[in-house]
Amino acid sequence: MEATVETHPNVALVKYWGKRDEALNLPSNGSISVTLAPLATITHLRFVPDGCSDEFMLDDRLVTEVEAHRLSCFVDLFRHRAGVAHAVRVRSHNNFPTAAGLASSASGYAALAMAAAEALGLRLSKQALSVLARQGSGSACRSLHGGFVEWQRGELPDGSDSCAIALAPASHWNLKIMVVVVDSRPKGMGSRTAMLHTMATSPFYSALPRQATLDLPQVREAIFSKDFAALASLAEAGCMAMFGAMLAARPSVRYWSPGTLAVLEEVEACRRDGLHCFYTMDAGPNVKVFCLGEDGVAVGERLRATDGTLQILEATVGGPARRCE
Ligand code: PMV
Repeated sequence: MEATVETHPNVALVKYWGKRDEALNLPSNGSISVTLAPLATITHLRFVPDGCSDEFMLDDRLVTEVEAHRLSCFVDLFRHRAGVAHAVRVRSHNNFPTAAGLASSASGYAALAMAAAEALGLRLSKQALSVLARQGSGSACRSLHGGFVEWQRGELPDGSDSCAIALAPASHWNLKIMVVVVDSRPKGMGSRTAMLHTMATSPFYSALPRQATLDLPQVREAIFSKDFAALASLAEAGCMAMFGAMLAARPSVRYWSPGTLAVLEEVEACRRDGLHCFYTMDAGPNVKVFCLGEDGVAVGERLRATDGTLQILEATVGGPARRCE
């Protein structure tokens, strides 16, 4: 009744920033992401039939009570399906700093979902597993797949059609992704709270799902045809629209630090010099810079020399979630 699973985080090119159902994590619009390796979460999970309470350790530390409650409720989804009440012991490790603002909840919940299903012998399709992972953290449903991934919005109120599908495998396109860390302090507001606050108070929020829905087929096409320039312009605009809506929330949600802006300016300068690169960001100050394979070295050198850069994590397009033993 145990399993070890490895998953990778993902970065969205069409963003998920709004829900049509809060309890089920049903998104207002579909989204598209890229799975990142070698950044990884490795989770070992064991069900203990005679145990009395769940235990969750992340990077050798017990998680907070609030987080443990959320994780236990998530594991309940699997216990319920298997018809068991066993307690669970979970040890999870990220090989990247959590401070990198790298949606560790995505790889974390994807790993927990797959490990729980495997340990209980539940024979779930990728779609069914994705539907369950989504309920832990929306973006987690995308981390079950490798390569280029679309999370379909779905229409059904029970969310059974809101899951991730693979668009293209990691081998489809040689992209380098640099996570440029400019601020390692814990962020003030988590994505869950910031998303709900933006929806509730930002006068610009309603434009986001509308625009994302228009962008989806174009981003899909840019990926299929490997049109880097088109992808760059769509991804940057979508990211900035998300931050625009956050900035207009009341009170404003502002994740950026001065280093963020310095990196954005350097990416634009690299592009003016003919290097193929673009940026995107998520709920944090750190910047993810996508480069066409061969331009990654030059862009990396310039970003390392940029004032404000603390650390750069280098990644390529990664594979799907997998069981380790
Ligand atoms: O899945 P969550 O609740 O951590 O939200 C993810 C939100 C963004 O990372 C900002 C966008 C996305 O699509 O991943």
